[in-house]
Amino acid sequence: MIEQKIAVIVLAAGMGTRMKSALPKVMHPLAGRPMINHLLDTVQALAPERVTVVVGPGMDQVARAVAPHRAVVQTERLGTGHAVAQAEDGLAGFDGTVLVLYGDTPLITLPTLQAMLECRRQPARPAVVVLGFRPADPGEYGRLVIGPDGLSAIVEHKDATPEQRAITLCNSGVMAVDGARLFDLLGRLDNRNAKGEYYLTDIVALARADGAACGYVEGQPEELLGINSRAELAAAEALVQGRLRVAAMAGGATLTDPSSVYFSWDTRLGRDVTIAPQVFFGPGVTIGDGVEIRPFCHLDGVSVAEGATVGPFARLRPGAKIGQDAHIGNFVEVKNAVVEAGAKINHLTYVGDARIGAAANIGAGTITCNYDGFDKSFTDIGAGAFIGSNTSLVAPVKVGEGAMIGAGSVITKEVAPGALAVARGSQMELAGWAERFRARKRTERAAKNKKKE
Ligand code: UD1
Ligand code: CA
Repeated sequence: MIEQKIAVIVLAAGMGTRMKSALPKVMHPLAGRPMINHLLDTVQALAPERVTVVVGPGMDQVARAVAPHRAVVQTERLGTGHAVAQAEDGLAGFDGTVLVLYGDTPLITLPTLQAMLECRRQPARPAVVVLGFRPADPGEYGRLVIGPDGLSAIVEHKDATPEQRAITLCNSGVMAVDGARLFDLLGRLDNRNAKGEYYLTDIVALARADGAACGYVEGQPEELLGINSRAELAAAEALVQGRLRVAAMAGGATLTDPSSVYFSWDTRLGRDVTIAPQVFFGPGVTIGDGVEIRPFCHLDGVSVAEGATVGPFARLRPGAKIGQDAHIGNFVEVKNAVVEAGAKINHLTYVGDARIGAAANIGAGTITCNYDGFDKSFTDIGAGAFIGSNTSLVAPVKVGEGAMIGAGSVITKEVAPGALAVARGSQMELAGWAERFRARKRTERAAKNKKKE
């Protein structure tokens, strides 16, 4: 296999009016990150020499998201051919293959791109290879006109004859073009067509007129879904989630009900992880081997070490580090806290800005009072400590190793290792008081009723 030099141009100048959004279309997220970054990740596997993203005016946000790749601004939207021409500066003298992709078509797969590069290597050495597909509804897509010796032209729907409109093989927009010819071909485009635009698609007919061959590869409609509306964004999200679920299971995780588990692009799962139904992973989650995640959990920016159990109904927020074999039970929220190995926080608890030492036991309803309206303060619980139910730990506060806290305590001062601290009203008892109270009430009521008669 001959090595091929590759450069990539991604078109992303469209604002995406149909999204009805203040956010440029390609910045809308799929599985927790902008769609354009999914595409750039796929492309990265081809080790391109250069990647250029064509953005619209004022799309600094897109330029930042694609860095360190180069962003060039297309100041006027004069068509796809004009957009590609904006990338010429950085590509002078480049004679490898230029891949043209659309930022709003981010689901394209690596094998498909590789098939296009492979097609460029065929003996006919096609100057342009187009990625075609057969959508359920060909609608307004450009159509691929195939002759006896390969691709002869692309006709835009608006410019097509009724016979051409009957063609079911459509233009996805993705192309692999001989870099030595691309900018010469683009320089010869005109805009005498139905839309008055410089069509990238016209380079096929121009190359053919020069005597060069052109080819095509057929891709799958689902990887060529273009995102123009919120409904299409949701459809793309479903496809991405489907891929992530398949990858999770292929990597050795059990998903009881895959369709109800939502991953982020960077969720990392160990082996023999079990994930029950209705679990959501935000970005930045790492799960160790053998972890069990029970139903209805939300995890975001956390790590969970080997053998731990989480949930049902647990909320692990950014900065939570759950140690080996630790237990996080129902209705427990943990934020920015280290829960060391074997610690148990089983019921109805908030732990924020804290360390929970190894094998400590945190009783039901414990709250770390970490915020006074101005500052966040730290709670440090020593290894093996036992915190009684319904304890408030008013931070900053420290509970020593192996100490015990009586249930219902409000702890405001440091507790020494091995000590018992109880901080609540002490119990009193008045013998027979309840009986006397009821007897008095009954007598009063009887007297009242007699008066009425
Ligand atoms: C284009 C193709 C059509 C193909 C379809 C697939 C042309 C002439 N037509 O049509 O054959 O079936 O895509 O979706 O190429 N863009 C710019 N600058 C511009 C114009 C477009 O960056 O001046 C970007 C858009 O942001 C978008 C992409 O190029 O990401 C496609 O542009 P669009 O106007 O949607 O092209 P279509 O008319 O759909
Ligand atoms: Ca389009």
